[in-house]
Amino acid sequence: MTSPALERALQESDGTEIEAGSKSRETEVTPDRVQSIFNHIAPVYDNLNDRLSGGLHHIWKQMAVGWSRAQPGDRALDVCCGSGDLAFVLAEAVGKSGSVTAVDFSCQLLDAARDRAQLELPASAIDWLEGDALALPFEADCFDAATMGYGLRNLTDIPQGLRELHRVLKPGATVAILDMHRPSSPVFRAIQDWYLDALVVPAATELGVKSEYEYIAPSIDRFPTGDEQVRLAREAGFDRAVHYTTIGGMMGFLVATKRGTERE
Ligand SMILES: C[S@@+](CC[C@H](N)C(=O)[O-])C[C@H]1O[C@@H](n2cnc3c(N)ncnc32)[C@H](O)[C@@H]1O
Repeated sequence: MTSPALERALQESDGTEIEAGSKSRETEVTPDRVQSIFNHIAPVYDNLNDRLSGGLHHIWKQMAVGWSRAQPGDRALDVCCGSGDLAFVLAEAVGKSGSVTAVDFSCQLLDAARDRAQLELPASAIDWLEGDALALPFEADCFDAATMGYGLRNLTDIPQGLRELHRVLKPGATVAILDMHRPSSPVFRAIQDWYLDALVVPAATELGVKSEYEYIAPSIDRFPTGDEQVRLAREAGFDRAVHYTTIGGMMGFLVATKRGTERE
């Protein structure tokens, strides 16, 4: 949940604020700069996520894997894998006859994921790859299912990230994308603002990463709404796209399927 990290990267470099997912960011934010921010928060990332969601993010990640329709024997992909939560759930879904490839461009978060894999799922076949979500290092049409958790909001070019997911999925395959979402209800907006101000920022301050987390609220404000995400997915080539929300609209799932024979 670290889009603020991107903002800080840019502010540190030239004092300009980033427009999330905008074209202008492509020229303003270099991958090196963004990578270094995610590497910086790597040591506290899992701890903060667990504390701040009360563990609920694990349930949402299970839901995302369910929406992706990953099945035993599949070749599955998790993009922006971070420390590996979604890749671990995907590995359970595809079983020993399947395989999971997990991609991120933060080498420190990938190291954390590899360490966790050795401890938590030593027998799983997860391939941890350093790579760019905007230029995935795979041929077209090669994955049966894909996930992305809290990655889309952090991409410097959201349409390109969606095009890449569409390109690497097999016809009929589905990607499920989990991210934070701005509720339309004023009551839930107030609850989300309170949660960010009263819980997230103080906890991040305690762990020395305040500036990376205090801009979550504006980053969610700039993130495309569910309807806009559906439109972007269709423009990226997906045949079907649906956006679901949970906990009063504070969390969202974009589920997009590539044209082809749809799986059961
Ligand atoms: C908020 S974290 C989410 C990590 C994990 N998916 C989770 O749900 O806990 C966002 C991740 O996106 C990665 N990321 C952002 N832009 C990326 C890009 N262009 N290519 C690859 N990874 C990227 C970051 O390195 C970071 O690990």
